[in-house]
Amino acid sequence: MAYTFTQSRELFQRAARVIPQGIYGHFNPSTTIPGSYPYFISRAKGPRFWDVDGNEYIDYSCAYGPMILGYAHDRVDEAFATQARKGTATMPPSTLLIDLAEKMVEVNDCADWAMFAKNGADTTSWALVLARGYRRRNKIVLANGGYHGTQPWAGSNHTGISPADRADIIMVPWGDLDSFQRIVDENKGQIAGAMFTPYHHPVFEQQVLPAPGYWQGMRRICDENDIVLMIDDVRAGWRLDIKGSAHYFGFKPDLACYCKAIANGYPISALVGTDKMRIVASKAFQTGSYWNNSPEMAAALACIDEMQKIDAAGICDARGLQLRRGLEECAAARGLQFNMSGPNAIPFLHFTNEKNFKRAQLFCKECSLHGVFFFWHHNMFLSAAHTEDDIRKTVDVADRAFKTVKEHFGG
Ligand SMILES: Cc1ncc(COP(=O)(O)O)c(C=O)c1O
Repeated sequence: MAYTFTQSRELFQRAARVIPQGIYGHFNPSTTIPGSYPYFISRAKGPRFWDVDGNEYIDYSCAYGPMILGYAHDRVDEAFATQARKGTATMPPSTLLIDLAEKMVEVNDCADWAMFAKNGADTTSWALVLARGYRRRNKIVLANGGYHGTQPWAGSNHTGISPADRADIIMVPWGDLDSFQRIVDENKGQIAGAMFTPYHHPVFEQQVLPAPGYWQGMRRICDENDIVLMIDDVRAGWRLDIKGSAHYFGFKPDLACYCKAIANGYPISALVGTDKMRIVASKAFQTGSYWNNSPEMAAALACIDEMQKIDAAGICDARGLQLRRGLEECAAARGLQFNMSGPNAIPFLHFTNEKNFKRAQLFCKECSLHGVFFFWHHNMFLSAAHTEDDIRKTVDVADRAFKTVKEHFGG
């Protein structure tokens, strides 16, 4: 029986009366086809959530990345709750600040120091400030289609942005060393830093992994031109490698931004850097109302420890590979042109013979109506809580969804 969303729809109407768009941000209605998805959930556990109509889903959103160990993870939740009973926002900070910074420096390949904030955007904005402060230059290079948050400089928003907000931002294609070299040559001595994601994960497009030698080439050009190399590992961080995605791809950035999976859903982010960035990091004043909250730090410590212990990145990769093979084989057997791009742990699904996403939307709708939460416009995420059996069930649901796509579109 296909799921229905009576409660979700009623709640959405209530929400729309008092909240712009009803639901803002990632899951706003413009990214969902009406009747395909629930709007509100009632609870989540492990790799599953249940919506307000009682429908159960195997979830591949993982909350857009933060959930890596499974929802409502006992160890992480207990660490958070125990610390919360000792106080939340305090000034001065608790000693967990030191414990967590030490842990980041221990596990992260490019970290000589660490500082903490709340959101990914806090750290990407902060990294820009440090690059400019360090080099005493203004220009920053970013990649077309890259996402670093909704702040004006990042260019993901068009409403309410002034040209001055992006006056010193230069865009290049991701993964194109020649373009980067050309921009650097044209702006000799003016570029403070370059911020890129470790692999390219644009919305609405296939993901792109770095070509061999790409990151080593970027590192060389940055060194030759005194440019601070910044990695935005907010999305991919912890899922590819506990030591950071830069380690996974074999290079060392000067600054790296982490968030999402760091505390399995509790709000904390981290900026880490190498020794050369330490002095500027101590000069640039940065803070936030909740940046020293200790329960999130306890959650992050428990989460990082657990990720290390079970090799969460390895499990995500293995389950992602099982999913990718299962889906690609089913699609091929039904004569459909389909692939999953990007790392196994963070795949993007795509029907390669279409540009308008109609097949992808029908496929995801059919999956959602039968208990598998996939989406078509953005990469998905595997977690260490997904079991082999979950993936098998997912592939069964997906196979029936491919059949519907084939019947509807013919190929
Ligand atoms: C690569 C990347 N950078 C930065 C951000 C911004 O993080 P936040 O939404 O926590 O501010 C995101 C969020 O999705 C992201 O994927």
